[in-house]
Amino acid sequence: MNAAVREATAPDPQGSGPVAPALVVSGLGKSYGGVRAVDDISLTLGAGERMGVIGPNGAGKTTLFKMIAGDVSPTDGRVELFGRDVTAVPTARRARMGVGRTFQVSNLFREMTLLDNVRVAARGGTSGARVFWRPQGRRDDVTMRSLETLESVGLADRRDDTVAALSHGEQRQLEIAMALVGRPRILLLDEPAAGLSSAERATLRQRIEQLPRTIPILLIEHDMSLALGLTDRVMCMENGRHVVTGTPAEVRAHETVREIYLGRRDRKDRM
Ligand SMILES: Nc1ncnc2c1ncn2[C@@H]1O[C@H](COP(=O)(O)OP(=O)(O)OP(=O)(O)O)[C@@H](O)[C@H]1O
Ligand SMILES: [Mg+2]
Repeated sequence: MNAAVREATAPDPQGSGPVAPALVVSGLGKSYGGVRAVDDISLTLGAGERMGVIGPNGAGKTTLFKMIAGDVSPTDGRVELFGRDVTAVPTARRARMGVGRTFQVSNLFREMTLLDNVRVAARGGTSGARVFWRPQGRRDDVTMRSLETLESVGLADRRDDTVAALSHGEQRQLEIAMALVGRPRILLLDEPAAGLSSAERATLRQRIEQLPRTIPILLIEHDMSLALGLTDRVMCMENGRHVVTGTPAEVRAHETVREIYLGRRDRKDRM
């Protein structure tokens, strides 16, 4: 074995061994009757890497996320998280393994306060399994962690307001707080900027930029300045299929991507 190979495969000085990619998707597919929502998609997300997923409506982006998070079982292929095959592992267990996510359709409890929303998320509550509990006072661990997380997205002073009182942009930031409070090892963000004003987009962009670089991020976005500006690599899909994966500059220059985003006058999401 030569020195370079030895170095690449040798345990690191802390003895924890080579770091597995956060996510490996291989040949993933999902059919709904005759519709091939996702068709033979493969991708690898390295430790700390940020990757954008773009493509027109119906390209299969959300279905891909749902298979990574465990909501939808693939028809073919496999999903590995942190070096482990999780294709048959249910959503709740993947969340406990460190999958944090925001949803294309909001997942907030509108009549509850921000703090209570984050506390529910900290306890593993989701829209599918609304978990309520008796608060143990203002200083229990979950509350302290929830307050810190609200602080990190700039919403600490709104903690006692109900979600219904928040602007759309603040709601998106709260959703990120709810994804972060579980101390995720990977973040899946599905169109976090959808429906936001340009000022709200700018704030959201800053919040995402400021997230710890140690957390790998997969970001679905129609807003090209975010999808290409916040990421190290970008994958474009169309009709369930892979079009191209590359650096933001490579993807921006790709002929099919240009056709998809510039060639259609009816599209809102311009490059
Ligand atoms: N539960 C379902 N049953 C049947 N068809 C579905 C289902 N979910 C998604 N599809 C179909 O799969 C395809 C991909 O949908 P998906 O929501 O993944 O696209 P998307 O890229 O997220 O689109 P958008 O940008 O509009 O959010 C679409 O044709 C959609 O109608
Ligand atoms: Mg979608």
